[in-house]
Amino acid sequence: MGRLSLSLFILLHSSLLFAATALTVTYDDSDDLLIRQVVSDDDDLLSNAEHHFTSFKERFGKTYGSPEEHAHRFGVFKANLRRARRHQKLDPSAVHGVTQFFDLTPAEFRRFHLGLKPLKLPADAHEAPILPTNGLPDDFDWRDHGAVTPVKNQGSCGSCWSFSAAGALEGANFLSTGKLVSLSEQQLVDCDHECDSDDPGSCDSGCNGGLMTSAFEYTLKAGGLEREEDYPYTGTGGTCKFDKTKIAASVANFSVVSLDEDQIAANLVKNGPLAVGINAAFMQTYIGGVSCPYICSKRLLDHGVLLVGYGSAGYAPIRLKDKPYWIIKNSWGESWGEKGYYKICRGNNICGVDSMVSGVAAIHPTSQ
Ligand SMILES: *[C@@H]1O[C@H](CO)[C@@H](O)[C@H](O)[C@H]1NC(C)=O
Repeated sequence: MGRLSLSLFILLHSSLLFAATALTVTYDDSDDLLIRQVVSDDDDLLSNAEHHFTSFKERFGKTYGSPEEHAHRFGVFKANLRRARRHQKLDPSAVHGVTQFFDLTPAEFRRFHLGLKPLKLPADAHEAPILPTNGLPDDFDWRDHGAVTPVKNQGSCGSCWSFSAAGALEGANFLSTGKLVSLSEQQLVDCDHECDSDDPGSCDSGCNGGLMTSAFEYTLKAGGLEREEDYPYTGTGGTCKFDKTKIAASVANFSVVSLDEDQIAANLVKNGPLAVGINAAFMQTYIGGVSCPYICSKRLLDHGVLLVGYGSAGYAPIRLKDKPYWIIKNSWGESWGEKGYYKICRGNNICGVDSMVSGVAAIHPTSQ
């Protein structure tokens, strides 16, 4: 017994050392200093806050209109430094640090960069049929199969839901036509006011939020979505300029996938990238790695993203084993996270990632 616990101790110890080394190697660029200072566990963090704030402003080109505003933003920034340190402790297999969102309070962050309405399913949302799950690949990534467009940026607009829905239809359209076409989120932002049939107060409303299943419902009724280049993204809500003659992809049907992780994987592999809701609490400070927080509410889903794949072996230093994870495409540009992507661990509905999953099928051109 004594030997066992000793070797366990050594294992734990060396894996922590390994994690520290990996961190330095992986993030050996201009971010390195910032990140290490954020994750290091000392008061040095706040005494150097001014220095961190200066580099933050330079890195992300931030300017503030008045000395009062500057002082206020510096206060918010310091609170976020403390939050990043807390997140690092709660989520040791990811790296948390300064992101472009560090001068925003959590409430501002939710308002400007998320935008998922509380879940209400439209009447047309069917449940996805149960699929066989034997023979699923261990690792799968739709990016390797050409079904995913480059990472986009929703800007300061709560339109995550439109990026999630358009991304799912881009994948479905690729599966049915063999062509990857970037689709218009702005059409959804401007034209989709689809409401829940039981709750007329809950409607898709541009930069003020929406739902992916409602966006599929709108797209089904409207006839389809235009290309990104024909109806480009502006990041603000406007009047609807939808031109039916320019439809580039159409919805055949859509469905809600069960909570079961194997069913989610099977639906992903069969039907293409899936629209998912998630609790984004840990994403404001996420830099990279597999996010697997000890505490993250499964109920407070506030962000719509795109599930594009999964992996079986994300390294989780604390838990001493490989962690399977989901690969998630976000809509905050390529400079956020891992080139715009987020990895979150699989197996436990972490942050509610399995709670609100929907898939869409596109109309095949010959059956039109
Ligand atoms: C669309 O309908 C077909 C036929 O009913 C079904 O097999 C498929 O699972 C549906 N796809 C989605 C994404 O709902």
